[in-house]
Amino acid sequence: MKAKARAHANIALIKYWGKSDENLSLPMNSSLSLTLDAFYTETEVEFTNSINEDVFFLNGVEDKNTLSKISKFLDLFRIARNMNERAIIKTINYVPTAAGLASSASGFAALAAATNKASGLDVNSRELSTFARRGSGSATRSIYGGIVEWQKGINDKTSFAVEIDDASWDIGMVVVIVNREEKKMSSREGMKSTILTSPFYKNWPEDSQKDLKEIKIAIKEKDFEKMGYITERNALKMHATMLGANPPIMYFEPKSILVMQIVHELRDKGIPCFFTMDAGPNVKILCRLSQGEMIKNRLMEDFKEYEIIVTGPGPGVEII
Ligand code: PMV
Repeated sequence: MKAKARAHANIALIKYWGKSDENLSLPMNSSLSLTLDAFYTETEVEFTNSINEDVFFLNGVEDKNTLSKISKFLDLFRIARNMNERAIIKTINYVPTAAGLASSASGFAALAAATNKASGLDVNSRELSTFARRGSGSATRSIYGGIVEWQKGINDKTSFAVEIDDASWDIGMVVVIVNREEKKMSSREGMKSTILTSPFYKNWPEDSQKDLKEIKIAIKEKDFEKMGYITERNALKMHATMLGANPPIMYFEPKSILVMQIVHELRDKGIPCFFTMDAGPNVKILCRLSQGEMIKNRLMEDFKEYEIIVTGPGPGVEII
């Protein structure tokens, strides 16, 4: 009744933005991501009859704030297994910085895998991704390594992740932490508000699917520049839907823009690199892994005191 799992974070190249079903966490659009080696979460789950409430430890400290969300998530497995045992959950986030990078993807993927094993439910990876989805949308994609697509589906069973490519053709990311503080607005709230108030949102579900189709062709052809260009364009379009919300949602900070300008400067010099940004100010740069250190060195000229991490593609979730 005890298991431990490790899952890696992922960054979307085609973004998921907006839910069609809040309760089931079904997305308005399919998305695609790169799983990253440098950022991961390890979680141990132990079901036991000796306690009446779940207990959750985050990085060695009991965390009562997140407990209800975790318990609700574990209930999905308890219902599926027809069991009542409570659990002791111990999570360690291996991210080089305290905050700033979403740990919900690796967090819920690791929790799903450990709970799947500890409860004896033992569903396969595809079904496991539907469980991870209920914790956090992006966690759906962290079940697999390399390049992963989350197919939006039409219901709980059909909204799952699939592996697209192992990303072993010199692909990496440079992550620039421009701000470590907690984000001002959660992605959940941001999505809701964008759907309800932004006149620019109505084009998003269909347009992002065109980007998805194009990027999948680029990946198949191993056309890195095309893949990067679509990635950058898609991120900007997602942020455009948010800028149109009322009140406007803006995750850009001056330093985020500076990173983007450096990316363009490098590109003008013939180095293929492309930025993307999520519901926070940190910028992730898709690049050739072999050029990651060189890109980092250029960024260090303007970001001496900042954390800059070069990472390659990461593996899927594993029981450890
Ligand atoms: O996984 P969530 O519900 O926190 O949403 C993630 C949203 C984005 O990071 C902005 C995009 C994505 O596809 O990961």
